[in-house]
Amino acid sequence: MASDPGRVLIFDTTLRDGEQSPGASLNLEEKLAIAHQLTRLRVDIIEAGFPFASAGDFNAVQRIADAVGTPEGPVVCGLARATRGDIKACAEAVAPAARRRIHTFIATSDIHLEHKLRKSRPEVVEIAAEMVAYARSLVDDVEFSCEDAGRSDPDYLYEVIEAAIGAGATTINIPDTVGYTTPAEFGALIAGIDRHVPNISQAVISVHGHNDLGLAVANFLEAVKNGARQLECTINGIGERAGNASLEELVMALHVRRSYFNPFLGRSAGSTQPLTGVRTEEIAKTSRMVSNLTGMAVQPNKAIVGANAFAHESGIHQDGVLKNRLTYEIIDARTIGLTDTRLSLGKLSGRSAFRARLEELGYSLERGDLDDAFARFKELADRKREITDRDLEAIMSDQAQQSEALYTLKLVQVSTGTNLQPTATVTLISADGAELTEAAIGTGPVDAVCQALNSLARVPNELVEFSVKSVTEGIDAMGEVTIRLRHQGVLYSGHAADTDIVVAAAQAFVNALNRLLQGSERPPLHPQMAPLSVGDIPLADRPRV
Ligand code: KIV
Ligand code: ZN
Repeated sequence: MASDPGRVLIFDTTLRDGEQSPGASLNLEEKLAIAHQLTRLRVDIIEAGFPFASAGDFNAVQRIADAVGTPEGPVVCGLARATRGDIKACAEAVAPAARRRIHTFIATSDIHLEHKLRKSRPEVVEIAAEMVAYARSLVDDVEFSCEDAGRSDPDYLYEVIEAAIGAGATTINIPDTVGYTTPAEFGALIAGIDRHVPNISQAVISVHGHNDLGLAVANFLEAVKNGARQLECTINGIGERAGNASLEELVMALHVRRSYFNPFLGRSAGSTQPLTGVRTEEIAKTSRMVSNLTGMAVQPNKAIVGANAFAHESGIHQDGVLKNRLTYEIIDARTIGLTDTRLSLGKLSGRSAFRARLEELGYSLERGDLDDAFARFKELADRKREITDRDLEAIMSDQAQQSEALYTLKLVQVSTGTNLQPTATVTLISADGAELTEAAIGTGPVDAVCQALNSLARVPNELVEFSVKSVTEGIDAMGEVTIRLRHQGVLYSGHAADTDIVVAAAQAFVNALNRLLQGSERPPLHPQMAPLSVGDIPLADRPRV
């Protein structure tokens, strides 16, 4: 039997696989904000990125390892292809963490061996063992993944896994890379590994899966029943293509149906001991943060974190819930942190009250950042009577997005109305301090603002998404705008909140433009593309920004 940590470990890959979602790239401040929030959520392992991809990715993993990798904090992990160059870069990046992990992988399906790696089965076994041994010479905690395990020959998988464990792998990850398997098949695959790999007792079995057929969460739950004790997942299920298994769905399934899953972990059905270490009350906030910073909206009917997940529309349901919530509710909204939006601060609140509330919400700011956030709060308090925790979260998301900005929005002015041609004037401050002003007309005020900003940025792009939603209720509520731009086939998102939605739209557009300008300078290196040679790639050849 595989090694058993006594509960189900939650390995969050929002900052690695999640960031591979089109348009979801994050800057350093945003990654740090998410890493801090994942730490508050108490995930066991944070996969912080793919350090070899670029100097920026390397730096982000290193900063996260430094910031949250305390002895009590999560294990900080980096991804590395099975090459010396990737593994060395990864070891350096995770070094500041007290508990650090290298996650290395190579494909094991015949399709990948033949068409991507152009390697034979024995060659891949040899590379896996050699690279795991190399990673183990650098850190004690090594995870090995058999990419495309879902479509690999199980007998060959057993052979690769045995070699990887023999070389020192402490976690064996079984990815359903293309989201192809069904729950019964995936469960049987895990059971087979547990039964047929002779040294499996020396490693934890982990699963990773994509949602191409909408089966990722169901597959993982079946894997847990068959011996998997680590689940690789993302907040809101974001990730490559149809996304990854969603963290909140897995954690809540294991929480709500604890008595069903307990016996599979050797517990009595009635045991009340949690099956994961996650603090469920942080789920809603983490979901909002990830959605705001990545620009990936959560569908209203999404399980657990969708806007409608706790709404009862039909009269019969409302009547039942009023009589007894258990008639139609299996989860108390408070379990995931959805409380009535708390009145937090007002116009007369001072700096220390502001700071104290932010700290209670989990944000601790350096002096300069606190000054900026406080100025933003005061400005908002002049326009909005009650400032809630949700408003503070929106301010903090905006602030994270605007760090590293090439352009800052200084002014936006529009004139619009019946019988008027909507006209906008905008002023941007460039990184070198120059003030740039432009005016434009448009079909509406937002269009006019975007036209004016485009004339200043002078980079071709297509607006593919514009959405507005309110942060809280009430006529003076802040409106949150998400914008997605396409440039040379790549998506870039921007998000901002303001009581004036035209200002929010302008800021969101500038945030997206900043990402576009920064992102298009960087040659993207995707972790799942084959290395130039599966052997050695010198560190000096790592792409630089
Ligand atoms: O989907 C996948 O196979 C992956 C691996 C790199 C673990 O993301
Ligand atoms: Zn993946």
